[in-house]
Amino acid sequence: MMNFNLNRIRADFPILKRNVNGHPLAYLDSAASSQRPLAVINAENHFYQYSYASVHRGIHSMSVQATNDLENVRLQAARFLNASSSEEIVFVKSTTEGINLVANSWGGSQLKAGDNLIITEMEHHANIVPWQMLVQRIGAELRVLPLNDNGELAIAKLDRLIDNRTRLFAVTHVSNVLGTVNPVQALVAQAKAAGLVTLVDGAQAVMHSRVDVREIDCDFYVFSSHKIYGPNSVGILYGRKVLLDDMPPWEGGGSMIEHVMLPNGTTWNKSPWRFEAGTPNTGGIIGFGAALRYVEEISFDVIQQYEQVLMNYALEKLSSVPDITIYGPQDRVGVISFNLGKYHAYDVGSFLDQYGIAIRTGHHCAMPLMHHYAVPAMCRASFAFYNSKEEIDRLAAGLTRIHCLLGG
Ligand SMILES: Cc1ncc(COP(=O)(O)O)c(C=O)c1O
Repeated sequence: MMNFNLNRIRADFPILKRNVNGHPLAYLDSAASSQRPLAVINAENHFYQYSYASVHRGIHSMSVQATNDLENVRLQAARFLNASSSEEIVFVKSTTEGINLVANSWGGSQLKAGDNLIITEMEHHANIVPWQMLVQRIGAELRVLPLNDNGELAIAKLDRLIDNRTRLFAVTHVSNVLGTVNPVQALVAQAKAAGLVTLVDGAQAVMHSRVDVREIDCDFYVFSSHKIYGPNSVGILYGRKVLLDDMPPWEGGGSMIEHVMLPNGTTWNKSPWRFEAGTPNTGGIIGFGAALRYVEEISFDVIQQYEQVLMNYALEKLSSVPDITIYGPQDRVGVISFNLGKYHAYDVGSFLDQYGIAIRTGHHCAMPLMHHYAVPAMCRASFAFYNSKEEIDRLAAGLTRIHCLLGG
């Protein structure tokens, strides 16, 4: 394994040292929200301790410095995604807000009654409900690309869903339940050939491998900082410049205007600032910049290689647990969702918690996927590069113990 020292990585995440219910924490819930390294915690602290001031408003040195710091993170995010320019980067509070922004601004201005949009059966609610609200408001239609039996998209069916009223295709890069990595580049190419606008939900992709929005060639790409070791309430919406320039603002307020006139006649700031009404979460954005630096210093080659080893190990270990059903394809990243015999996921999750093992249980904000598999809930273990094989051993042993105790 090239240049990877797990102990050193774990030392960067102080929270991993704590005990839960008398056992060392095994944090297997990073797909819900990852933990933060000291580099991120310190960057945010440092900003509040020494550099805090309001941004985009003041001419005093502190405000200018804070504005520069924030705008430097925009540049960093642009480089991280290989966007053409930092003006293609909108700061939002989350993936959810980024998708709502596109649905309201692009969708609200471009979609007409009788048009249709395509999403997929494996989307998180964040990439379903904003589109449902939009089509209801406009009188448009939502179409759904289904899954095949292997937990992958039935890609051959995409062409059949597209007609001359289809306007947009929105798809997750990686499934938060199945770990399926969708071939977004090919899907976007297919959608674009039919003249569709494309949005990729990268919430579960950015922490596992390098993302290049120009290679994917999508129009919009969205992700949240808290899934890539950064602070909460910061997200990135990448939008192709020509589209952003054409989109009306979504929220009104300070910073997003050029001139305000009464009783009307207000004009807008240019993009991306037009989409950033009000005071941003500057401390969070600074912390997010530190998170990007942190992962880039470790490098995605190293992260990917280690996480692949961990995933193969986890799949092998969990497959040997009696009565387990694992959902999704063999080829996957980040997550393993499963059920154990006839036991409800909540019971399994509560039992594991008694041993300090944190997994996610429930519908994972993907109820259509639960319907697809005809289950009310699933357990989900998710992995980051700070997890160890030993934690996976504890998970497998815990599940085997539940099976024995509860009698299979
Ligand atoms: C695939 C996917 N999309 C969107 C989201 C929503 O992210 P957030 O709650 O940060 O807006 C999540 C969060 O779990 C997700 O996994």
